Amino acid sequence: MILVTGATGNVGRHVVNLLLQAGEQVRAISRNPERAGLPDGVEVIRADMSQAEDLRAALQGADRAFLLPAAGQVHGFLDAAVKAGLGHVVLLSALAVTMKQAGVLGSVHADYEQAVARSGLSWTFLRPGAFMANDLRWAPGVKNGGVVRAPFAEAATAPIDERDIAAVAARTLLDDGHAGKAYELTGPASLTTAERVRILGQVLGRDLRLEELSPEQVREQMITDTPAVVVDSMLTLFASFVGRAAEVSPVVRELTGSAPHSYADWAAVNAAAFR
Ligand SMILES: NC(=O)c1ccc[n+]([C@@H]2O[C@H](COP(=O)([O-])OP(=O)(O)OC[C@H]3O[C@@H](n4cnc5c(N)ncnc54)[C@H](OP(=O)(O)O)[C@@H]3O)[C@@H](O)[C@H]2O)c1
Repeated sequence: MILVTGATGNVGRHVVNLLLQAGEQVRAISRNPERAGLPDGVEVIRADMSQAEDLRAALQGADRAFLLPAAGQVHGFLDAAVKAGLGHVVLLSALAVTMKQAGVLGSVHADYEQAVARSGLSWTFLRPGAFMANDLRWAPGVKNGGVVRAPFAEAATAPIDERDIAAVAARTLLDDGHAGKAYELTGPASLTTAERVRILGQVLGRDLRLEELSPEQVREQMITDTPAVVVDSMLTLFASFVGRAAEVSPVVRELTGSAPHSYADWAAVNAAAFR
């Protein structure tokens, strides 16, 4: 049986579907199972990763697990996983661990990776770059006037579709040969913020306007619900993406046999959220 944490999230939801399609027995956890909206055939149990007893119950009988370090709850999970005799854990980490400008964004995930490596469990690390799903935050502005307000119009990333992260997660949970490997994952192309706005507009059949915010404006908005050290790391990291193309990783294609989804494809699948 495979345990999926973060099963109601952008990535975990697809991981659940792919494992079910592969005929696996899947257990998913959520703090609100009644609102999880997961498919029939998956065992959904109520668990909060900050609660040792919930983790113990969730891991009972699990032989592999997809680990999303929700709210920093990695150590409790690892303790329970070692006790339960878990055979393999796939950690959702971040590409930021490879970037020295990433500050706390990278060091937090590096700490999670080290904890997993030190646990003695068999592991695989997935290090995705920016999720395409992050652009769902543009939906209110797109709906109300066709305006995207964002910083760093010329910052380039190679954003990845959450379906592709999940596809790699499924392969590393289902197939042998991935223990001790760390995979850097990106989408198929380097795109600036301005280019993503243009593609989104084409897919929606609308003219969208990008209103570039200054880093100071963004800081002021974000600081209301995000620690200052995280906000500053994000701004420093994105400033470093201006004026250079982002590296594109071949790993999605190598591991899944399919090219990663394009941004236009992601936008088409998610168009309803912007209408
Ligand atoms: N966004 C990016 O560009 C990016 C890039 C690289 C890496 N990452 C990493 O990806 C991860 C986010 O993945 P995502 O977008 O798929 O997640 P998400 O959509 O933000 O969903 C969060 C998930 O965590 C679960 N959760 C939160 N707190 C929990 C708790 N205390 N106990 C149990 N479950 C809890 C939620 O489940 P319930 O609400 O159902 O309990 C939900 O399934 C983060 O670790 C982030 O650092 C993100």
